[in-house]
Amino acid sequence: MKPKVLVTRMIPRAGIELLETYCEVEINNDDRSLSRSELLNRVTDKAGVLGLMADRIDGEFFDAAPHLRGYANYAVGYDNIDVPEATKRHIPVSNTPGVLTDATAELAWSLLFAVARRVVELDTIMRSGQWSGWGPLQFLGADVCGKTLGIVGAGRIGTAMALMSKGFRMPVIYSNASGRRNELLEKELDARLVSFDELLERSDYVSLHAPLTPQSRHLFNKDTLTRMKNTAILINTGRGPLIKEDDLVQALKNGTISGAGLDVYEFEPNMAEGLAALPNTVLLPHVGSATETTRTNMATLAARNLLAMLRNERPETCLNPEVLEPR
Ligand code: GLV
Repeated sequence: MKPKVLVTRMIPRAGIELLETYCEVEINNDDRSLSRSELLNRVTDKAGVLGLMADRIDGEFFDAAPHLRGYANYAVGYDNIDVPEATKRHIPVSNTPGVLTDATAELAWSLLFAVARRVVELDTIMRSGQWSGWGPLQFLGADVCGKTLGIVGAGRIGTAMALMSKGFRMPVIYSNASGRRNELLEKELDARLVSFDELLERSDYVSLHAPLTPQSRHLFNKDTLTRMKNTAILINTGRGPLIKEDDLVQALKNGTISGAGLDVYEFEPNMAEGLAALPNTVLLPHVGSATETTRTNMATLAARNLLAMLRNERPETCLNPEVLEPR
């Protein structure tokens, strides 16, 4: 009998086809995430689940899925998974690192330039027919070349974003919760590891790539935003709750910082009141990994991970490989 798996929302076909080679696949074909009760009801007979970051994978989920032998996240971020709980139950869980690194770093740059040069705001003016012709004092933005780029969380995506700055001759500084040095960035860019405080004070652009943890939640709040330059621009393609969004709205209104480019939000899909009305923001609907190739590669990686778990093999990108060791 083929093992039963649930895919909690449609993913690119290549991932489904891989799963179908070995499993009986049930897919949520509605174009929305499953509600909590739908998720819990649909996993009771499943050996494997391929899910999204909207699915909370915790003790209650594992209790509802007594036959579960593996969970594959269709995302690199895994703040939706209680990994210690999975480990306690000897259930392997995986994410999708690597395959979405460049796409997400590229999106961070898209936001950075869009905010710096007011691309969206000015596009709206053109479309509305309000432009009356070129003027020396019109629509001034911020320079990028030579400005200091601060990377919060120099992991895979933060490193890729920083390396892409090479053409713009930007001094790069970075901070890491672990305090670990990034030799690649130091060698390639002469980047410097600094304290979070120094990064706030010195950066013209701050780009967030840290994972969401209890320690990093609300890293950017009234107090830390106040320590940034008032000309600084904040870019977030990581996780929304890294920023206390109400405080950011105030900081943008008061001129505490100059602008923000956001792809993620504290309470997705909602935004803090007042954010949408601010012209010094560019707001995207969580599309860091949204290219055809990247989403397909995420689907096939997640599917390969799940297949490996069901075959008692080592998944390529397991978050708790210790459960795979012989007991
Ligand atoms: C998307 O946000 C991801 O973590 O892959």
